[in-house]
This record gives sequence, structure tokens and C-alpha cells, in this order.
Amino acid sequence: MSFPTHRPRRLRRNEAIRGLVRETRPSAAGLVYPLFVCPGMGVRVEVASMPGVYQQSPDKIVEDCRELESLGIPAIILFGIPEEKDARGTEAYAAHGVVQRTIEAIRRAHLKILVITDVCLCEYTDHGHCGLVKDGVIENDATIELLAEQALSHARAGADIVAPSDMMDGRVAAIRKKLDAAGFSDVAILSYAAKYSSAFYGPFREAAHSAPQFGDRLSHQMDPANVREALKEITLDLEEGADIVMVKPALAYLDVIRAARERFDVPIAAYNVSGEYAMVKAAARNGWIDEKRIVLEIFTAIARAGAGIVLTYHAKDLARWLKAG
Ligand code: PBG
Repeated sequence: MSFPTHRPRRLRRNEAIRGLVRETRPSAAGLVYPLFVCPGMGVRVEVASMPGVYQQSPDKIVEDCRELESLGIPAIILFGIPEEKDARGTEAYAAHGVVQRTIEAIRRAHLKILVITDVCLCEYTDHGHCGLVKDGVIENDATIELLAEQALSHARAGADIVAPSDMMDGRVAAIRKKLDAAGFSDVAILSYAAKYSSAFYGPFREAAHSAPQFGDRLSHQMDPANVREALKEITLDLEEGADIVMVKPALAYLDVIRAARERFDVPIAAYNVSGEYAMVKAAARNGWIDEKRIVLEIFTAIARAGAGIVLTYHAKDLARWLKAG
């Protein structure tokens, strides 16, 4: 009964008909562009392993935000490279830290772009770990107090959304409580809920100077082998008050994105991380792949898996290509 009655190729005859039946329609409306802010003025230094990605001083970040707005990109996520690092990551929650000053500069420039901030201590500690370390162990409960202080300092500076990426237990509840007590009940929490311990973060650690000086992140980030555990992490973060939950990395974890999409009725974000970007860039530079087609295909696949929000270093290119149709 099948062929010749059924001919699926009928719906692939030309672009108009393919467009009509297309199931996933990627749009710039869900893009978030990551930015690395460093101290100084007029600084713009390219990250060697991430061509097209820069460490920039606050004034340059403001310029970049103007360009992002004109491209129709609705949001950025800010990562800080502080002047000084210490064991407690003091600059992470300092009122005049590099991220806090950058948010204020974006606000002063009256830009409409949504400002999301990464909340984690690893860029600010001299040992490169995501929390306080005692006898070689990352202390959960003392760390979440500092993370809540960091989130509050971002909210005070004008952040719209805070995004804890540390994977400590209970940090979403600690942040929500601290924000609400200080009158920031409208600041949303995007939780890196299912964040895996991944080799795909390698180039980011160069960009953010956040590689651990000893040990690894296996005691808090998730085991790549687990998906049920991801659903448990997401459940807990939603119970604690997360508004949006994220799966990270994206490409090797499309099944996790899909499982989360089917289980939870909240916005799902995915982080197309530094290593995924670096691989595409390296292959494209060698002429081994068609960068535009690959990047559009990757973005479509992440959306098809179920993520409505995608954090990606390809955001500017994607916005241009999607506009051009
Ligand atoms: C931690 C953080 C990391 C990334 C985002 N937030 C690094 C890590 O956990 O080691 C990785 C992002 C990327 O690889 O693009 N602050």
C-alpha cells in the first residue's frame, strides 16, 4: 500500500514546499551571545583557540552590545576576568568588579539587550575551582552563600537574569532567597541545571583563565554517562525556583535536551560550548567543511532537540545568515 501512493519526495520538490512543511524554524529570537569582559579601556584581544571571540574591556563590550542589538540578538551572557584572584574569589561579588561595572555601563548606554550573568567562582579564585576549597574538597554550603552574594551584586548593577553555572547543591534556592530579600524578585534565574563534566570546555578555560590549578570538576559537574540524573538535577532546580533550565554542552547531549523538553513545561536552554565552536572553526579554516551550512545545521539540530534558547559563539553569524534567509 505504500509506494507508489506515498511519495515523500513530493514535499521536497522546491524550497517553497520544503519551507511550508518545515518542522523547526530556527530564529534569532532565542540566541544568547557569550562575552568575556576584562579590566581596562580599549582592550580587545582575540582568544587563540576561539577565532572571532575576544576578551574585551567594558567600553568595548558596550560597543559589541550595540552591534548585537542591530543584529536582532536579544541577550548576552557575561563572564568576568578579574584584576585579581584570591582563594575566596572576592572580585566575583565586589560591587565594583569587572562584570558589575560592565552591566552599569550597558545600562548607562540605554541598550535594551537582556543582560544575563554567569554566576560561578572559578574565574575569580586563584586555585580555579568553582567554590571554596578546604583540605582539597570544594565546600558546598559555604560556597552557595558567596554565589548568592555574587548574584545579588549582579542584580544591584542591573542584570536581568542570573545564571549559576557552579553545580553546587542548593545554590538556586540560596540565590532566590537572597534576591527576594533585597527586593529583586523580578530578576530571573537561568540555572545551568544539567551541566556535565566535559572536555568541550577546554577553550573557554583559556578565554576565561579559569582552568583548575589542581584536580578536576568531577565532584560537582555531572558524569557524561547519565541522563536520569540530569532530570533529577532539573527537578531540584525548578523546585528551588529556577525560571529557565539549561543543558550543557549541547551537541553531545541532544538526548538530554529532548528528555528535558518532554518532561518539563519550562523554557529549556542549551549551551553550544567553546569546544564545539573551536572544532567547527578549526575545520572551516582548513577548508574541510562548509562553515555556514554546518553552523545552521547545528543550530537547527539543537532547536529540534527541544531547546528554545541557545547560547552560542556563532550567534552573530547565525543572526546574519538567518536574516539573509
Ligand atoms: C563556569 C563555566 C564554564 C563554562 C561556562 N561557565 C567552564 C567550566 O565549567 O569549566 C563553559 C562554557 C564554554 O565552554 O563555552 N563558570
